Amino acid sequence: MTKAVITGTGFFVPENVITNQDLTQWMDTSDEWITERSGIKERRWLSRDAEGNSAMTGSEMGANAARMAIEDAGIEPTDIDQIIFATLNPDVFFPGNGVFIEDILGLQTAGAMDIRNQCTGFIYGLAAADGFIRAGTARTVLVIGAELQSTALELSNNGRDTAVLFGDGAGAAIVQAHEDSDRGIIASVLHSQGRYARDLYVEAPIGTQKGRITAQMIEDGRHFPTMNGPTVFKHATRRFCESITEVLAKGGASIDDVALIVPHQANQRITDAVAARMGVGDERVFSNIAKYGNTTAATIPIALAEAVREGRLKKGDLVVTVAFGSGFTWGANLIRW
Ligand code: UT7
Repeated sequence: MTKAVITGTGFFVPENVITNQDLTQWMDTSDEWITERSGIKERRWLSRDAEGNSAMTGSEMGANAARMAIEDAGIEPTDIDQIIFATLNPDVFFPGNGVFIEDILGLQTAGAMDIRNQCTGFIYGLAAADGFIRAGTARTVLVIGAELQSTALELSNNGRDTAVLFGDGAGAAIVQAHEDSDRGIIASVLHSQGRYARDLYVEAPIGTQKGRITAQMIEDGRHFPTMNGPTVFKHATRRFCESITEVLAKGGASIDDVALIVPHQANQRITDAVAARMGVGDERVFSNIAKYGNTTAATIPIALAEAVREGRLKKGDLVVTVAFGSGFTWGANLIRW
């Protein structure tokens, strides 16, 4: 039987550190509030030029993460026959970032697909890679989660509930077809509930609007993210736990078998609540939100890459990746590493 095995991981975060204290120059907030409510101490934002424009694109960040994953897997870029790029921050309205990566890495006509599932994007990406590989559609898949969020945040009191949470970054995994391996993606569960789409979203540009966006819409800040934080928090905690339980049942495993849970890094309080409800100690739940904040689709691949390099994830370990985010979307993967 053909299995989809993760053979390499990589990540990229900008050098530019923004501390909680740095944010106080733009909004009424404090290190104490951000630390207590979210567990975040700092995040990385790409450097800007004099006009405030980012020096790098999301695709370029993704390419840096991909290069590390390619080297880690010991393959050549041209071995990749399918790209899956998860982001809510595409470089342009269309096409998606997958094709930009294809060009940057010089892949020469590999398939490219974008996933617009926000914080759950990488979970959907791994599930799609697994499906492609099992179906024989692809043999070496590059799955990327990359987000350039810093240019999209509302740096004012109005946007402070979201602006303090998000960071820039990218993570990548090489997923390859292996025959009769004990390793690989065992099961995935994917869910959504569109009735909550407006509880965490960016409204503009709007498809029905002539010209897609107006000066008035920009004046009103309708191009910035808005979030009903407490609603997202409540649903996230419940859906994280449900997804873990569901993917374990689907894969025929128990929580005691799991070496490491790699949750989407949304809020340390969510991670702690999930760990407590699942009866799992901190040592089996990965967290790096204090240093990177929420990098949306990039949190899980960055965490996987760091977990491997910190020796917390070894070949043969059972790992659960799990996420919840805008849409609402949520899901999990069960992987024999
Ligand atoms: O990746 C998935 C997407 N995102 C999430 O999962 C986020 C889920 N939600 C959360 O993490 C939390 O809801 C937040 C961290 C966003 C907020 O924490 P909270 O404990 O739910 O606070 P709150 O929204 O109920 O706001 C409490 C107070 C409010 O003031 P009043 O109305 O009590 O006077 C806010 O205006 O905190 C105020 N506030 C802030 N104060 C200082 C909101 N943002 C800030 C801020 N600094 N940055």
